Amino acid sequence: MSQRPVRNQRQYDFIVVSNRLPVDSVIDGDGNQAWAPSPGGLVAALEPVMHRHDGAWVGWPGRADLDLDPFDTDGMSLIPVPLSEAEVADYYEGFSNATLWPLYHDVIAVPEFLREWWETYRVVNRRFAERTAEVAGRGAVVWVQDYQLQLVPKLLRDARPDLTIGFFNHIPFPSYGLFSQLPWRTQIIEGLLGADVVGFQRDADAGNFAQAVRRLKGFATKGQHIAVPLTDPNPGRRASGPVREDGPTRTVVARKFPISIDAPYFRATSHREDIRARANEIRADLGNPKVIMLGVDRLDYTKGIRHRLLAYGELLAEGRVKPEEVILVQVASPSRERVKSYMDLRDEVEVTVGRINGEYSAIGHQAISYHHHSYPREEMVALYLAADVMLVTALRDGMNLVAKEYVASRFDNDGVLVLSEFAGASDELKRAVLVNPHDIEGLKEAMMSAIEMPPAERAMRMRSMRKRVFEDDVEKWSSGFLDTLTARRTAEPT
Ligand code: F6P
Repeated sequence: MSQRPVRNQRQYDFIVVSNRLPVDSVIDGDGNQAWAPSPGGLVAALEPVMHRHDGAWVGWPGRADLDLDPFDTDGMSLIPVPLSEAEVADYYEGFSNATLWPLYHDVIAVPEFLREWWETYRVVNRRFAERTAEVAGRGAVVWVQDYQLQLVPKLLRDARPDLTIGFFNHIPFPSYGLFSQLPWRTQIIEGLLGADVVGFQRDADAGNFAQAVRRLKGFATKGQHIAVPLTDPNPGRRASGPVREDGPTRTVVARKFPISIDAPYFRATSHREDIRARANEIRADLGNPKVIMLGVDRLDYTKGIRHRLLAYGELLAEGRVKPEEVILVQVASPSRERVKSYMDLRDEVEVTVGRINGEYSAIGHQAISYHHHSYPREEMVALYLAADVMLVTALRDGMNLVAKEYVASRFDNDGVLVLSEFAGASDELKRAVLVNPHDIEGLKEAMMSAIEMPPAERAMRMRSMRKRVFEDDVEKWSSGFLDTLTARRTAEPT
């Protein structure tokens, strides 16, 4: 791996590394290359962080076989990492999204363990690490993001011991019983332990990681601290038992840093006259129903869209909700469309929506208003303002920032959040109507109690949740992580 900076390459003191850049290369209607905001909460959370630091963002530009030079956009320096068509299939769609994603989300879909996918994951992680090492100034802080890049911390540390390296896992980290299914579990743990700080969404995730470290590497863990020997006695292999602690070690901190949103942005946008007018217009366009329920998700099987539709369909069938009074707006943004489980999900969701609408919609009163695309952020705020009930019914979710965006947008202290207890956000938003989405009867009751909740209770719950979201916003998340990271640098100089 190259350890020296490339000639004429600008060097940075702060670098974010993630699978995707904040913008995706797309081909517009005229066949020209254009840039569109990348999907997902990760990018939305990191953008404000990047605007506060004069750093660089290393990532894939979202299309295969694009070899671009570094460029600046919206005040950020972007360093593209190219992926071939085969690498997109094996590293991104394969190992990241058909192996790790289902495994880390409690095996909601069956993970596939293909050796060629693993080989490509290694190759691509090495490329990300090499590109980062080239642009990192001496002693730089590097913050690696998410499950697609778990080998990068160790590769970087081996090449550039002068760097301070953080890793944040945006998705859940599974229990050892599930994680141990992964044929390459030891290499993944070694990869992550290359970081100085490994961050998770919830205490449970950090605990699962510490257990995997003990079981696979035999390293001692105490609270948030892991003692990693400077020389691993079992490199690349599982330890047969606890490792003796008498040699020199370095400390890795593993703990939770719950991610959040740019709450002031949502407050300011939701207050805008034009956005409030747009919210009224949405309500009118939907036929002025008494209650608008809203779901906003990437079209992903972890989000519990099927469960939500099943519960809503049963409420319609039982006559407990009437399409003349209630509408469900479901925004399902396209995601990972070449992965089989995602194609199957889309088919199932769209057949179910069609069936429910066919059966229950009346002229001028649709049961479900379904949208298979994403919307600009401002339109989302108008939708949040229009929605009386927000449904977040994930079967497993690292955090779920949509739940926090809804709360931050409700400056009127109105609206009810129905929130899955399997989403990380439920640790903080305890005044939501909490549900187990597998329990369809319970989900139906939760929807009904949200629809019927008296205004005073709605306001009391929303006020309490807003307090929490504005106290713990994305600025607190990033400064909490980066302060911990820089404290490690002072604690363990290289
Ligand atoms: O938060 C999980 C995550 O996979 C992020 O890493 C990613 O940016 C987002 O969801 C969207 O997924 P994808 O990049 O696969 O479209």
